[in-house]
Amino acid sequence: MPEEMTESMRRAMSLAGDRAKLEAFYDQWAASYDEDVAEHDYGMPEALVSTLLAAVRDLTAVDPGLVRLHGPDTDVLDAGCGTGQVGRALVAAGYRIIDGIDLSEAMIEVAATTGLYRRLEAGIDLTKAPPPHLEAKADVVTVGGVFTVGHIPPESLVQIAMLARPGGLIALSTRRSYQEEVGFELVSERLVDDGIVELVRREQDLPYTMDSTGDYWVYRRPNR
Ligand SMILES: C[S@@+](CC[C@H](N)C(=O)[O-])C[C@H]1O[C@@H](n2cnc3c(N)ncnc32)[C@H](O)[C@@H]1O
Repeated sequence: MPEEMTESMRRAMSLAGDRAKLEAFYDQWAASYDEDVAEHDYGMPEALVSTLLAAVRDLTAVDPGLVRLHGPDTDVLDAGCGTGQVGRALVAAGYRIIDGIDLSEAMIEVAATTGLYRRLEAGIDLTKAPPPHLEAKADVVTVGGVFTVGHIPPESLVQIAMLARPGGLIALSTRRSYQEEVGFELVSERLVDDGIVELVRREQDLPYTMDSTGDYWVYRRPNR
């Protein structure tokens, strides 16, 4: 892995998707996470939200009724919100109603100190079907930095899509190395063919961290 990556990032990517290890790892990283990522040009949150806004612009140009997808009344769920990095970019883009979920209690505690989120909940595993109180509630779901090596498999998009209401959007990032290792594109194509999600927009090789680019994907949960 590149020299520039911090020891924490390197360890995070070696956790093989093990829930207990991921939870324990992020619990101990929470206090210094923001400082660490700030030193590594963490461009992911802004790239994710700008891709989301471009998708919303395209959709609303065709159907002005979709205006609900961007604005102060839009219900956003930041899935794998961590300490709130994506929440900050969402607020800067004009979103106001943002809930956050994550595995790690300590990451959620840091997110709570930002004042960006309406509700926060720890202990939610994105590889599992969502609990009923979260299912099909969000207009927009963001998933930044979670589809990465050692975290969740591409197939978790099925469970994550269940968080969006029919017609709602799911915006996610994939780190370059992850995409190549797990064949994200093929799984994405299969889920689109199966009618689980529609692909609205994909941006390739935008900034992610100083040592990696990422792709940014916006999906729509079909209206049915
Ligand atoms: C690299 S951090 C990204 C956090 C935040 N979105 C950001 O951009 O800074 C990955 C986050 O995903 C969470 N996570 C990892 N596996 C998860 C899972 N299976 N379900 C829910 N959250 C998970 C971790 O606890 C951590 O907060």
